[in-house]
Amino acid sequence: MPKNIFVLTGAGISAESGLGTFRDRQGEGVWAKFDPMKLATPEAFARDPKTVLAFYDLRRRNLLGAEPNAAHFALARLEAALGQRGGSLALVTQNIDDLHERAGSTRVIHMHGELLKARCNACEAVHPWLYDLAVSHACPDCGCAGVLRPHVVWFGETPLAMDAIGRALRMADLFVAIGTSGAVYPAAGFVAEARAYGLCTCEINLEAADNADLFDEQRLGAASETVPRWVEELVGR
Ligand code: OAD
Repeated sequence: MPKNIFVLTGAGISAESGLGTFRDRQGEGVWAKFDPMKLATPEAFARDPKTVLAFYDLRRRNLLGAEPNAAHFALARLEAALGQRGGSLALVTQNIDDLHERAGSTRVIHMHGELLKARCNACEAVHPWLYDLAVSHACPDCGCAGVLRPHVVWFGETPLAMDAIGRALRMADLFVAIGTSGAVYPAAGFVAEARAYGLCTCEINLEAADNADLFDEQRLGAASETVPRWVEELVGR
């Protein structure tokens, strides 16, 4: 059994918790209904902060009403089991939800930020934020108004914790991508990097990702079934 496992998760792992994905073959993803260039870029926020904040307010409200599903719980179980055997799970998510944490995962790397936090554009302080965010809200640290934004990574911005992610990739024995379309870089490039380090690679997804040919193994199906089954195969019931 692999000792150190690197898992990359995407929107598909939270789909059965009721949080929409961004892209799907049926054209029903979030970015088929909304233009990301008007809602998820620093330029859009500078031009029309009210509209951008309203979009994230809606997503925050959805998240607060959602619950982790069996796939999130299975990964928390995997983290504990690997820890007991002297190994580790590097859980890197592109998701801005907190469902991994609520399922019990203790060390989640949120490379695209976290929806339940707000960041100050003036002093860069990051605050827990469970409510709607208005342009008029002042930063709890520096007191400036009009400078708080969701603590999320927008198109054109650099994802977070890339150094830690690189280190985790280099020390892993197995790379697994779960519920991600392989369409957005740099995350979509991790599998190629993993292969370059000699790791085995596995895709767990509803439909084959754009970069599916880079995986040694593919398990297709709904995450709430495929992920617990995979974890059970690795660490038992
Ligand atoms: P996508 O919406 O691009 O892809 C979702 C993937 O999940 C697809 O491959 C689906 O087939 C799969 N899927 C859907 N339902 C599933 C289920 N029940 N079980 C398993 N898989 C399922 O989401 P991401 O790849 O995460 O970035 O998107 C990457 C980034 O693009 C996001 O983090 C976001 C977005 O723009 C930013 O906002 C910066």
